Amino acid sequence: MNDKSIESLLHEQRKFPPSDEFISAARLQPSAAEALYAEAAADHEAFWGRLAQQEIHWETPFTDILDASDAPNYRWFTDGHLNVSYNCLDIHLAERGDKAAIIFEGEGGDQRRLTYRELTDAVSQFANALQAQGVSAGDRVVIYMPMVPETVIAMQACARIGAIHSVVFGGFSASSLRDRIIDAGAKLLITADGGFRGGHVIELKAAADEALAEGCDTIETVIVLNRADCGVSMQDGRDIWWSDAIGGHTAICEPVAVDAEHPLFLLYTSGSTGKPKGIQHSSGGYLLNAKLSSQWIFDLHDDDIFWCTADVGWVTGHSYVAYGPLAAGATILMYEGAPTVPDGGRFWSICQRHGVTIFYTAPTAIRALMKFGDDIPAQYDLSKLRLLGTVGEPINPEAWMWYHEVIGGQRCPIVDTWWQTETGAIMISPLPGTTPTKPGSCTKALPGIDVDIVDEAGEPVTSPNEGGYIVIKKPWPSMLRTIWGDNDRYIETYWEKFQNRYYVAGDSAHRDTDGYIWMMGRIDDVLNVSGHRLGTMEVESALVAHDRVVESAVVGFPHDVKGEGIFAYVVLRGERPSGDEEPALVAELRGWVGQEIGAIAKPDQIRFTENLPKTRSGKIMRRLLRTIARGDEITQDTSTLENEAILDQLRGKG
Ligand code: PRX
Repeated sequence: MNDKSIESLLHEQRKFPPSDEFISAARLQPSAAEALYAEAAADHEAFWGRLAQQEIHWETPFTDILDASDAPNYRWFTDGHLNVSYNCLDIHLAERGDKAAIIFEGEGGDQRRLTYRELTDAVSQFANALQAQGVSAGDRVVIYMPMVPETVIAMQACARIGAIHSVVFGGFSASSLRDRIIDAGAKLLITADGGFRGGHVIELKAAADEALAEGCDTIETVIVLNRADCGVSMQDGRDIWWSDAIGGHTAICEPVAVDAEHPLFLLYTSGSTGKPKGIQHSSGGYLLNAKLSSQWIFDLHDDDIFWCTADVGWVTGHSYVAYGPLAAGATILMYEGAPTVPDGGRFWSICQRHGVTIFYTAPTAIRALMKFGDDIPAQYDLSKLRLLGTVGEPINPEAWMWYHEVIGGQRCPIVDTWWQTETGAIMISPLPGTTPTKPGSCTKALPGIDVDIVDEAGEPVTSPNEGGYIVIKKPWPSMLRTIWGDNDRYIETYWEKFQNRYYVAGDSAHRDTDGYIWMMGRIDDVLNVSGHRLGTMEVESALVAHDRVVESAVVGFPHDVKGEGIFAYVVLRGERPSGDEEPALVAELRGWVGQEIGAIAKPDQIRFTENLPKTRSGKIMRRLLRTIARGDEITQDTSTLENEAILDQLRGKG
């Protein structure tokens, strides 16, 4: 976030309490919320132990709540056994078997509805198919799919048999998919011929074939869903159509009870090195926080239609599409395509058509849709909406107010939820029937989540509005367990800074005089582009893998839709391009990064320079590069620059 937006947030004084009407029907009443805070404060472990017993069906009950013997590798409910899929599906059959679990709409307008019974049957049948392909507990299965019900079916089927899934976002390239398959040592890949997005067919199977052409020796089988009828090549002995894979299997599959600590999934996310980290989540602890946060924050009632617009390729699509709301017995809506097809009213037309009551999306989507003007949402009946949410990045007050007035008709509380791939579930958020909201603040930590803001020495910052590091001081059930295959990196990244005492999130924040938390952005070299995390080093490594590029430095700059845009300074082998050559090379490099990582990583701006600004000791002066990328006046000392003459080139003037 830039200084101007911090400044504007600092002056944000408006406060919006929930309406009496909302409070009276809220699932978590203010008094109950207060009791939860008090209970957690009195005995943190007993609090989580009680909730785990109450909310989860255990095959074998646990006796040990928290095992800190290998801290900071904490373990929760270790001697308990459970099955996550059972807890999301079978558990509802007696009471809600005929209730819709998933309402689906494809980009082309096709619709499907699956009841809890139908979903349980489909998951069981596909779980049987996976077992028939030799998948068993602990095996890794990579899922590279469009946003269709089969993706949730595949995830839940893995959970049913104890296989560990790793979903790779369908917008990632073949090479990103390959890296993730190799790192996880996956045995089976589930993909589709293609999916519909933005008016095009995204050819997933073709990308999967490209990924598998090199080094993915552990993959034995590829299951391919026919979604787009787009014609793909199938490799004999390796590839099998989804419909053939499930053929002949019954819809009965006994859920496999696993240890509470058994990994439920890996999800790769960017860090400050070039290599994404495989964040490993557990079964018991993860499920507990995913379910509870769905109930507390989204106020799920039996007649709600809950739509979280996130793709299952991101953690939000795990916790608030595939697991949390299903564990809570809710009806979820899934939409396959882009928000702008056929026009900027698509989200609102879906809300109207399906009677969506709770809508959860990213600020970047709100900003993009806001640009189409108020007339578009005004054409739709949004009166069923009663609660709105945001996730992924700080929301600017202007977008918050638009969301509140134009989409929420001034009656819907807005929950601004802060969390991370690593935290597994929402950590900081208003409780909608309790917490008055302020535009741009995610307000306060949830009960049982011990968030603080500390200074360089690890001491809590005391004066209001003083910035510091966001830390979580006590372990919580859905915390990441490790980085797959690299526990040292886990400890180094999240714990070492304060001698293993606190979990360090990598974000900075401050508290106002009411104790409300305001997020101020990342403190590491991680960008937040359209609510998605991207390491600057990842983009740099992709750029230097191109023949013409010798060196590059990537920084973020404020972008009015994406939140943060990508600015790449590039040093070429040989001469800088001139005339028409320059835009051609820019286009080539953007395409190249798209191929190496995925379209979201394409730099918005590329500037060629003869060198990068370095101090005499050889450190790249990133702060200077950020200043230039923002178009701000250079105020920092440039006298230590090795070559001051390049300033003009960096500014695009030389
Ligand atoms: O910087 C914070 C930002 O997104 C990061 C986590 O990214 P990721 O693991 O991809 O998960 C995104 C969805 C949970 C955080 O470190 N972030 C997330 N939510 C918010 C946020 N920043 C401000 N306000 C939020 N509500």
